[in-house]
Amino acid sequence: MLTAGHQGPQRSPTASSCPYARLVTGDPSTWDMTTAFRRLRERAPVQQVVLPGELVAWLITDAAHARQALTDTRLAHDMRRLPDPRQGFGGRRYPDDLFSAQGRHLLNSDGPDHHRLRKVLAPLLSRTAAKRWKPFIARTCAGLLDTMAAAVAPPDLVADYARPLALRTTATILGIPDAAQQQLSSLTRATVRAGHPDDSTVRRQRSELFGLWARIISDKRRKPGDDLLTRLTLAHGQGHLSAEELVSVAWGLFSGGVSPTTTLIASGAIEILRDPELRDAVRSEATASRLIEELLRITSPFPASVWRFALADVPLGDTAIPQGAVALIALAAANRDPAVHPEPDTARLNRQRGHLSFGLGPHYCPGAPLARLQASTALTALFRRFPGLRLAVPETSLRRQGVLIESGYEQVPVHTSSNATEAEA
Ligand code: HEM
Repeated sequence: MLTAGHQGPQRSPTASSCPYARLVTGDPSTWDMTTAFRRLRERAPVQQVVLPGELVAWLITDAAHARQALTDTRLAHDMRRLPDPRQGFGGRRYPDDLFSAQGRHLLNSDGPDHHRLRKVLAPLLSRTAAKRWKPFIARTCAGLLDTMAAAVAPPDLVADYARPLALRTTATILGIPDAAQQQLSSLTRATVRAGHPDDSTVRRQRSELFGLWARIISDKRRKPGDDLLTRLTLAHGQGHLSAEELVSVAWGLFSGGVSPTTTLIASGAIEILRDPELRDAVRSEATASRLIEELLRITSPFPASVWRFALADVPLGDTAIPQGAVALIALAAANRDPAVHPEPDTARLNRQRGHLSFGLGPHYCPGAPLARLQASTALTALFRRFPGLRLAVPETSLRRQGVLIESGYEQVPVHTSSNATEAEA
């Protein structure tokens, strides 16, 4: 039975008139994502919800339909392919939305354009390419751990470990000079977390961000190095991508690389702190990589895919996403679907079925090898160095910084200790 009409995405429903569930109720910083997604999945695996910012979108919360939607090319990444692109989001985010409309990068392109950009980028992030960075990552972890050990106040796993590691690794691979890294990081976080793209502060920050990228890339042209930005500028010189695409792809790599890796390391550490068996598993070479897969499933650093736009009516289970509508695949919900992962909230090292944390299909994350390498190196080093690591505040006082994109914790203060018995105190 098809229950959806041709209504497309809807604008600003009021709480009283809207028949759809709100994705987030209450304070977003304490939003219990797992419970919210479970309730929605039990209500209907494919349904319309009201997102923060009052946008109505279709949300897919079970694993089977999530897989189907992630690989259905009628659910396009490129909003410009809609007969009227303003239709996506009722015109509210067009043409300024960074993910779905601005510039052209991998996550807002489909078909031949996407294939062309992916061909330039994917080999630069392959498993072999990532392996080359292992000594750098290990050295960076060791330096950060030394600083944490010497700190007087409880260090913060986000600001003192996970983020600087992800930032330095991504920036070094790209070839971004040290002096620009912090500014790039704060402007990227501000623009990704920002509300409406028309907001004047958002506009200013976005123009500063893209101005900074333009300067970094033009310096790179003058002074090439052995790095990813140099390869991208060469590919631009050979006509494989335009100047605008070069900036957008670089921005996408940086924003897509730093934030979820930071979340995986910090939120993964919290999962490990809860369970002594996981502490043992992370310290052993034999089990660390299986543990990372479970941490990817449980923490789901990108809780949802990027926007998709229905180019036609797309039947999905008992319903259909109507042409013109916006859809999001709730990767975090699919990753805890009990039909695929029994006892979904428990980390188990012997699971047979894979997770969707890196997506699926043509847009599957090309940075997966690098993310896995950083997380396993960082978490193994952290728990080997501090077997007695424990939270310095009650877990209930931790706050998230965002909902669907930057979903990680603001701060995770810890007591570092090399004495394993202190972990039980
Ligand atoms: C734990 C860390 C990471 C997670 C969970 C993650 C997750 C994802 C997901 C779910 C997608 C697909 C989104 C969709 O189809 O809607 C994606 C795409 C992408 N990711 Fe990652 N990512 C991570 C780390 C990285 C890193 C380290 C890089 C590079 C430095 C990277 C670069 C990209 C790029 C360029 C795309 C776009 C691919 C395309 O559209 O073809 N990611 N990522």
